[in-house]
Amino acid sequence: MSETAEKKKVIFSAIQPSGTITLGNYLGALQNWVKLQDDYNCIYAVADLHAITVRQDPKAFRQNILNAYALFIACGIDTEKSPFFIQSHVHTHAELAWVLNCYTQFGELSRMTQFKDKSQKHADNINAGLFTYPSLMAADILLYQADLVPIGIDQKQHLELTRNIAERFNGIYGNTFRIPEAYIGETGAKIMSLQDPTKKMSKSDENVNSWVAILDKPDTIMKKFKRAVTDSEARVCVGEGKDGINNLIGIMSCVTGKTTDEITAEFEGKGYGDFKTAVGEAVVEKVRPIQERFDRLIADKAYLEEQYRKSAEFALRLSQRTLDKVMKKIGYVAR
Ligand code: TRP
Repeated sequence: MSETAEKKKVIFSAIQPSGTITLGNYLGALQNWVKLQDDYNCIYAVADLHAITVRQDPKAFRQNILNAYALFIACGIDTEKSPFFIQSHVHTHAELAWVLNCYTQFGELSRMTQFKDKSQKHADNINAGLFTYPSLMAADILLYQADLVPIGIDQKQHLELTRNIAERFNGIYGNTFRIPEAYIGETGAKIMSLQDPTKKMSKSDENVNSWVAILDKPDTIMKKFKRAVTDSEARVCVGEGKDGINNLIGIMSCVTGKTTDEITAEFEGKGYGDFKTAVGEAVVEKVRPIQERFDRLIADKAYLEEQYRKSAEFALRLSQRTLDKVMKKIGYVAR
């Protein structure tokens, strides 16, 4: 994480510390983050400031933040290569978010589909933070002059808004922010629900059999795969109307690195029962070393603390440069 080894493009991304990280999160986002570390200057964060737009229980919240932090390191985020910090530890984020709020229009924020969805879901707590959430996300990204932002499709509108805010600010004050671009990972990594394979795998699904958590016990994982919804054709191959099997083949391919053809050849003439068992076993093997590392890390508070402190120091130094520039351009008196 040297500051002089520039030239490589800068990547910034963050994930909220929800209670469970699913196989979908891992194969769709996290595994990608890990791979990007060698080719880019990556900066990653646990977005805990974003998380309080919905009410959190203090004790569970603290544990969720630490668990997410440890799990990401267990998955392969290497703080020597990529600073990985906890958002609330770096005060520039909240500061720039306030500034950007004053350069973001009410109308723009009102058009965010995530805001509309979430305010319907939490009708009893439509707080201002939920509304201005995208300007905090814009601050996260713009502080590090990021070139690329790996995100899921659901965050694309927020990134579009980030670009608009940055362009607007640059237009008024001259070049201040780099305009970031979305980095949408390969489509092959979209993992669907095991119970309704036309829907994305999501831990907010009430049916716990529809998703697999990275930290699920092996027998739970096996049970969930054995119950996975398939079709009546009884042929392991990709096809239309075979969403369940398509998804299982996709998962198998992601965790083993085998191609679709290799997988279909291997299971030619075999039944769905065998195939589901094989996918379950492959997933268990994939998450086993991650779970072992996680167990070691979560018991080693001192090590975790050292990692997030070191990363937060680095992030603060870098982001303070951007914030200082912004404050000066607006006309604030230097400290
Ligand atoms: N809003 C993102 C999500 O819920 C998380 C996030 C916060 C983020 N800040 C970010 C993602 C900056 C990319 C860049 O998924």
